[in-house]
Amino acid sequence: MALRALFSPFLVSPILLASLQSPKTPTTVCPSKSIRCASNTITIDDHTVIRRSANYPPSFWDYNFVQSLSSDYTEEKYMREAYNMKDEVKGLINGVMDPLAKLELIDAVQRLGLKYHFEGEIKQSLDDLIHLHNDAWCSDDLHATALRFRLLRQHGCDVPKDVFESFKDETGNFKTSLCEDVKGLLSLYEASFFGLDGETIIDEAKIFTTANLKNIKGDMSPSVVRKVGHALDMPLHWRLTRVEARWFIETYEQEQNMSPILLEFAKLDYNMVQSVHQKEVGNLARWDVNGIDKLPHNIRTCLLALFNTVNEIGYWTLKNRGFNIIPYLSKAWADVLKACLKEAKWYHSGYKPTLGEYLDNAVVSIGAPLALFTSYFLTTENINEEALHYIDKLPSIMRCSSMLLRLTNDLGTSSDELARGDNLKAVQCYMNETGASEEVARDYINNLVHETWKTMNKGMFESYPFSEPFLSANPNLGRTAQCFYQYGDGHGIPHNWTKDHLISLLVQPIPLK
Ligand SMILES: *[C@@H]1O[C@H](CO)[C@@H](O)[C@H](O)[C@H]1NC(C)=O
Ligand SMILES: *[C@@H]1O[C@H](CO)[C@@H](O)[C@H](O)[C@H]1NC(C)=O
Repeated sequence: MALRALFSPFLVSPILLASLQSPKTPTTVCPSKSIRCASNTITIDDHTVIRRSANYPPSFWDYNFVQSLSSDYTEEKYMREAYNMKDEVKGLINGVMDPLAKLELIDAVQRLGLKYHFEGEIKQSLDDLIHLHNDAWCSDDLHATALRFRLLRQHGCDVPKDVFESFKDETGNFKTSLCEDVKGLLSLYEASFFGLDGETIIDEAKIFTTANLKNIKGDMSPSVVRKVGHALDMPLHWRLTRVEARWFIETYEQEQNMSPILLEFAKLDYNMVQSVHQKEVGNLARWDVNGIDKLPHNIRTCLLALFNTVNEIGYWTLKNRGFNIIPYLSKAWADVLKACLKEAKWYHSGYKPTLGEYLDNAVVSIGAPLALFTSYFLTTENINEEALHYIDKLPSIMRCSSMLLRLTNDLGTSSDELARGDNLKAVQCYMNETGASEEVARDYINNLVHETWKTMNKGMFESYPFSEPFLSANPNLGRTAQCFYQYGDGHGIPHNWTKDHLISLLVQPIPLK
């Protein structure tokens, strides 16, 4: 799926969804030319080459449909309304309240998709919290401790893992009494996805909470059942912000202590952001590059067109900066093509790589480093060569992001791909290397997903020559992958879960009062 995911039926492109994460991302540049490639029967020097077809069903998102998307929420009256509501919510966040209430408010603001409006206020509130000398308010409350841990780590503050020691008993296990505390378990579960390599207690917390949440006995309100199911389905840390916002707005509406102004602002903002995305998607639709599937024979045509396009971006962003983007771009493309070529050679010679050998190549062949490289120009105002050199070396966060796309893609699509005749994927390489069953191999790869997130978490604490939007594009690409491939090939066969989600993301506004 590598190249296809980058450019083909635009709406289901991970890089697009990754960019949907942050409404602040500068508007995607729209190329003025449309790029068209030939069909998959290609004639070169009178020889006709028939290539294997990927048999993807036609995309549901046809050009006219996408161009027809429109929304009322671009009107000025909504902007004025939003402006006033934002002010009120700001007052709410800055208000005086006990620390736990403040954390819960921040959590709600973030899950409602509003974090980008209140970065400064949230940072200030969390800073104040770190400097609180008295932590009696959370020390024996699992929910408070875990929520504090999660929110602080999310904001780049390395809270020690030891805060959870006091919830263990003499035998070194989490206290059995915690099993009754569903709220605490849920918070600890979500926090446990912010662990780093070597933090055993956080790994234990993940196992403990997962097992106990699956086994909760006794009467639970429908709202708790819903929340537990949602969390077990996928942890918050792995979820796409906008998809989560839609779900959480409905959930928050039913909470007893919810803030009506916060809820109303969240709905209005969701609809307004949706109207922006509709426009961007309309622009992206003009990148008519479905034919990119028919690579490699017509690759030159496509690439030349793409180079022209990026050159336009280049002129747009690099004006007055005196350096040429083309060598970097050529290198990024060449890396992907070399990696694809290696896979093709393996396939045709019957060579079966070890998992390690496969992954070293496969993180590049999936196209993620190239996609991230391209997104650098779309997310960065002050482009600099130091960053380009850095990106070229595939820093840890980019490698993790590419690895997540590769692993989740392989878990979701490899059966179909092998059936249509494709090279071995992660699961099969591991099976061949170790003689493991498919089930064991899938567990192993799933576990690698968890491990990769730990490395990503650590990477997010490091310093980079990048600005925030590009930095977060990395975990966001990982999240997009998790979202697409959770139930199989959500990209290649997008007529089920992905379709519903994309409709609620891009087509249907939330009804307002
Ligand atoms: C792995 O593949 C090689 C080459 O096809 C084969 O000889 C070997 O038996 C396979 N190993 C397992 C465990 O299937
Ligand atoms: C649709 O998604 C559900 C999971 O939500 C899955 O069980 C089902 O098999 C999918 N159907 C198709 C046709 O992919």
